[in-house]
Amino acid sequence: MKTKKVPEQYTDRKLSARYPTDLGSWQALKKHYRESMQRKTLRELFARDKQRPQHFSMQAGDLLLDYSKTHVNKTTLKLLTRLAREASVPQAIDAMFAGDAINATEGRSVLHVALRSKISDTVALETEGVRDVWKVLTDIENFVDAVHANTIRGHTGKKLTHIVNIGIGGSDLGPVMAAQALRPYWSAGIHFHSVSNIDGTQLTDLKAELDPASTLFVVCSKTFTTIETMTNANAARQWVAQVLGEGAVSSHFVAASTNHEAMDEFGIAPNKRFGFWDWVGGRYSLWSAVGLSLALVIGMQNFRRLLAGGRMLDQHFRLAPMGENLPVQLALLGVWYNNFFGAATQAILPYDNRLARFPAYLQQLQMESSGKSVRMDGKPVRCDTGMVIWGESGNNAQHSFYQLLHQGTRLIPADFLLSAKTSGGTQVQHKLAIDNGLAQAEALMDGFDEKGTSPYRVHKGNNPSNTILFEQLTPEVLGQLIALYEHKVFVEGVVWGINSFDQFGVELGKKLAGGINKSTNPSTRFLLDKVR
Ligand code: F6P
Repeated sequence: MKTKKVPEQYTDRKLSARYPTDLGSWQALKKHYRESMQRKTLRELFARDKQRPQHFSMQAGDLLLDYSKTHVNKTTLKLLTRLAREASVPQAIDAMFAGDAINATEGRSVLHVALRSKISDTVALETEGVRDVWKVLTDIENFVDAVHANTIRGHTGKKLTHIVNIGIGGSDLGPVMAAQALRPYWSAGIHFHSVSNIDGTQLTDLKAELDPASTLFVVCSKTFTTIETMTNANAARQWVAQVLGEGAVSSHFVAASTNHEAMDEFGIAPNKRFGFWDWVGGRYSLWSAVGLSLALVIGMQNFRRLLAGGRMLDQHFRLAPMGENLPVQLALLGVWYNNFFGAATQAILPYDNRLARFPAYLQQLQMESSGKSVRMDGKPVRCDTGMVIWGESGNNAQHSFYQLLHQGTRLIPADFLLSAKTSGGTQVQHKLAIDNGLAQAEALMDGFDEKGTSPYRVHKGNNPSNTILFEQLTPEVLGQLIALYEHKVFVEGVVWGINSFDQFGVELGKKLAGGINKSTNPSTRFLLDKVR
């Protein structure tokens, strides 16, 4: 096994000298913002250059990014690209693909890219576990095919037609988001459900709806100790045992985890345990055995298409120069609005209801990764890091929070996600959705302020947005979209000097919950007394 190497640019000595705010490019960007961009409107930028969409757009794989409606010109791009180089982004990308321990606070490699690679890509092949990736995929494939062929069936002989993913965080959001996004690819007669919250209501509702004899629970947990998941898994196990008998448990439960002992203890049959590795972060785990419930629903061929989409973006990210690199560009635009324009939040607006959970998925991906205030070297950051990410599918959002985007006081950059072809509605309906998305992006940019317009009706405009355009929401495209944002988050973290791959911030609340009855906090005591 290869000894994990902490890349040199991440060592304390190097990092302390690399506050992004100290970099020449950062200082130049500050000046450029103050002198050229702060007061420039998007309308003015378009008036000066009608070819902005041609000059400020780029393509990778099946994704087209149009960022012409952002406050950038050629100088901005030059400086942002310089920032990426000065912040050692190219070296960080190499370090990730080489399997170096870039998750330095936990001493781990970060290799979700290996999960969707081909062996010929030689992604960190010497790192323990990487060479097992393809074997686990084959195991998953055999299992999925056997369930579909009805050669693996329920305890009473019934076909397993209802797949229930039990997990939380990355072990829930990925399968749930992707299962909804890829609804047209579901295998006939197979249905997807999920249980995540600890309060038990999701399982209660499912119990009323499902027959345990045709239900397969997929317990998904990297650690297999997460209280929400274990509580729900035990409740589901109890239900199956009560209705079908204890002997039925092994036929109705499979699991994805790195904790083989705990899967054993739970009663997961040896041929129904699908492993992965410590170098797969929870929020980056859809590509691993955590994708099992999704694979069961969309079939292995489509799951492999999702992986192929991720790989396509990986190859682009690994090889494209900084100035032509789509995830790098998206990250630099994020830094530009976050750190120079002071935008605190970003909206994600997919105009396809199948992507309704994509904003929630990106919330965990970006906020758990970038919600950090301490750098890799243990010192406080000197600039803002992760933005608040939020959003909703297009027209629902228009009738909810767009008012604030159009007439509120805050600068909120948005990502519009649009497809040329429908993923299931009629062409007429799809056209309406896309027309709405385009109209909103235009209105946010142009605003509305004709002579004599009442002040209440003025839209100030000048709200920036990216548009990510693709032909159709296929498994390959979804894979590319996820990988795009994964790499975007990584690049932002490298610029800020933080570790995007740990999540110590979620530990404290978990620890406190166990002993809350003994809390001496007056407010907690007051509320506990009321509740209990
Ligand atoms: O919420 C914190 C977290 O650790 C996430 O990062 C992770 O996706 C989730 O909990 C679930 O963890 P596990 O897969 O170990 O159950």
